[in-house]
Amino acid sequence: MNTPTAVHPQTLFLSPQDVTSIVSRQGMLKTLQEMAACIQQDFLRWKSFDKSARLASHSKNGVIELMPIADAHTYSFKYVNGHPKNTAQGLSTVMAFGVLADVATGMPMLVSELTLTTALRTAATSAVAARALARPGSRVMALIGNGAQSEFQALAFHHFLGIEEIHLYDVDAAASTKLMRNLQANPDAAGLRLRACASTAEAVRDADIVTTVTADKTNATIITAGMLKPGTHLNAVGGDCPGKTEIHPDVLASAGVFVEYEPQTRMEGDLQQMAPDFAVTELWQVLAGEAAGRDSGAQVTMFDSVGFALEDFSALRYLYDKAQRLGLGAALPLIPQLDNPKDIYQLVRPAFATAFGQLNAPGSPNTDRPHAHQATALNTELTPT
Ligand SMILES: NC(=O)c1ccc[n+]([C@@H]2O[C@H](COP(=O)([O-])OP(=O)(O)OC[C@H]3O[C@@H](n4cnc5c(N)ncnc54)[C@H](O)[C@@H]3O)[C@@H](O)[C@H]2O)c1
Repeated sequence: MNTPTAVHPQTLFLSPQDVTSIVSRQGMLKTLQEMAACIQQDFLRWKSFDKSARLASHSKNGVIELMPIADAHTYSFKYVNGHPKNTAQGLSTVMAFGVLADVATGMPMLVSELTLTTALRTAATSAVAARALARPGSRVMALIGNGAQSEFQALAFHHFLGIEEIHLYDVDAAASTKLMRNLQANPDAAGLRLRACASTAEAVRDADIVTTVTADKTNATIITAGMLKPGTHLNAVGGDCPGKTEIHPDVLASAGVFVEYEPQTRMEGDLQQMAPDFAVTELWQVLAGEAAGRDSGAQVTMFDSVGFALEDFSALRYLYDKAQRLGLGAALPLIPQLDNPKDIYQLVRPAFATAFGQLNAPGSPNTDRPHAHQATALNTELTPT
């Protein structure tokens, strides 16, 4: 049968190595800056998005979440977990991947790692919020929780907020040593003064900005009201799940509280401790000039960050664009490419299935190239008649 050859769109796959290549080719600061710009642009298009709170599956040790969002053209979701005890068995607390798809057809355009990317996008989002909310002239930051996210937060605040000195504290001294070592060896942190502290209270004293990025599946009290000097901006990142908070409710009661997507933060943020009618402002409103940021130099502002799907949408569209420009990533044979899309049975038609099975049998050359199996079989060698 003579049918025109269909042009099949392909799914691009980006591994952690591909995202590392993007960062190393153009530099961490440019990556953070451009990702922050994408996040800001998308927050300014807030009303164009079909939004929902993420779907969380809770268990004894942690949570697994799905985070979908779409505009008229593009759909994305992130799969992410949060398991604070994971590091004891050599796994990250937070691991993630995500998908970008074409709304017009539903075709997945991108499958990407998002573990490293989550650290980048979270720091970029924190910087976007702090630029809108922190006191101009903030120079000292306390960084409580010195795990996987912490270097990214330190670099973003050094470069985009003008932070010159960071006071570090973690209950695990080895985590602070790791953060210190990583920053001291990084030319992007040259000129940034670092001081390891013996307690949260010591780290927070004299800080203009306080970033909390701890992981513990409990209602922890890392920061109490008396610890913060007037005018502090609190970038609260680690309280992001029901029953997992960092900030004493008295801090929220006396602060201006800003959130990503209110329905989600009411369930997951430090805000979960407050009455349902406790007033908050969504960050996009401040960025768009529809609401005020801090009301005075003395007000304590708090960004009650939980991580919202829009930030991952921005990160995924940014990675997709960058990878294509830099020629990174690999075609992922995720969706079968069919000459006749109404005939998916062709994949299991006995003659085809037998040959396909032989092609992938142990010892065949294809078994060393798992991603190549299906593409080779379907596109060239076994095109059904
Ligand atoms: N809001 C967001 O968008 C967002 C994004 C990513 C991660 N997170 C959250 O940020 C937190 C940190 O993530 P991570 O990947 O860096 O985890 P991690 O496990 O690598 O590091 C967390 C660190 O917090 C320390 N810690 C725990 N309790 C502490 C306490 N009471 N005082 C001081 N330090 C304490 C731990 O020792 C550890 O070093 C997690 O809770 C995670 O869920 C939020």
